[in-house]
Amino acid sequence: MISIPSLQCSRPNLWLRDHCQCSSCVHEVTKQRLLDTFEIPRDITMQSLSETQEGFNVKCWWSDGHDSYYPKNWLNKFARGDSSRERQGINKASLWTSSIAESLPKVYFKDVMDTDQGVGQWLLNLRIYGFCFVEGCPPTPQDTERLLKRIAFIRQTHYGGFWDFTSDLASKDTAYTQISLEAHTDTTYFSDPAGLQLFHLLSHTHGSGGASLLVDGFKAAQTLKQEDPKAYDMLSTIRLYSHASGNEDTSLQPYQSFPVLNHDVGTGELIQVRWNNSDRAAIDAPFSEVQNWYNAAEKWVQILRDPSMEYWEQLKPGMPLIFDNWRVLHGRSSFTGKRRLCGGYINRDDYISRFKMTNLGRAAVLESVIG
Ligand SMILES: [Fe+2]
Ligand SMILES: [Zn+2]
Repeated sequence: MISIPSLQCSRPNLWLRDHCQCSSCVHEVTKQRLLDTFEIPRDITMQSLSETQEGFNVKCWWSDGHDSYYPKNWLNKFARGDSSRERQGINKASLWTSSIAESLPKVYFKDVMDTDQGVGQWLLNLRIYGFCFVEGCPPTPQDTERLLKRIAFIRQTHYGGFWDFTSDLASKDTAYTQISLEAHTDTTYFSDPAGLQLFHLLSHTHGSGGASLLVDGFKAAQTLKQEDPKAYDMLSTIRLYSHASGNEDTSLQPYQSFPVLNHDVGTGELIQVRWNNSDRAAIDAPFSEVQNWYNAAEKWVQILRDPSMEYWEQLKPGMPLIFDNWRVLHGRSSFTGKRRLCGGYINRDDYISRFKMTNLGRAAVLESVIG
């Protein structure tokens, strides 16, 4: 274990040697480790330690004969344990209720298409509010697909990739019908649910209805925690299975059961809401706890259905809506006539990667990679 004067860094020798940043230990282009960790003597010691480049770097000379250089910023960052923004794309969230309708997060199609700053603003809105509109998108599937691909490649599922459909039950899911859909998150039947979803209403003819509903799941969780901490605990610990079995040739289920409210193991922060009562399969709990789960879920649903939590919007051609499927629940009212919608999913990891790169820059992100 070393303590470096002028740094609040105290790390085991083996850890420091293993995390050497020099070009013979880490490939300069791929940023992958070249060093054979298991060649490092387990009892490695430091022969000397000094600061170089006017205090910018710390240089270590090790008992295995290797010289290592570490940026001081990098050492300090991990000593403080504050890499979560650069590593996980953590950003302060602004939780909302129905009054969000008065000041909607919005960016312009042209800005997103023309510049990475435009993409950065779009994704920053998503990290803060969990959803964002794009104004001025030509109402075509081609332009909408181009827009979505500004974030990352579109996720393929058993329904396809970028979708463009009318309400004809072409896929065996209620989303493809005209009936109303309660607030839910999508793809709870995947181990890794879709990170983002985009909807663009291209046309609605010969009918009415079909307003879209959004509910801030993090706000709903916060309310539940305040009003009924025991129920919050139940939904955070009792696990559920989900499934998608409507298509003849598939029955998708996640590799394990997950609770409704999922938390970061390290920080305890809520990171993911999984809620789709239609796709819920068996509850994975002892029978003695099942009643508790139903009680807690009932409380949760009361909060989700509270009109003060709901933001309703009639989608318009030219105004795609994108939302964070790990946080914001969506639904819609029933409708008549013929609606044509297009859209798609983006993986969570690709979304967060693009957020970090556009908002923090590659250098800051790479500094957080090891630690
Ligand atoms: Fe959905
Ligand atoms: Zn090295």
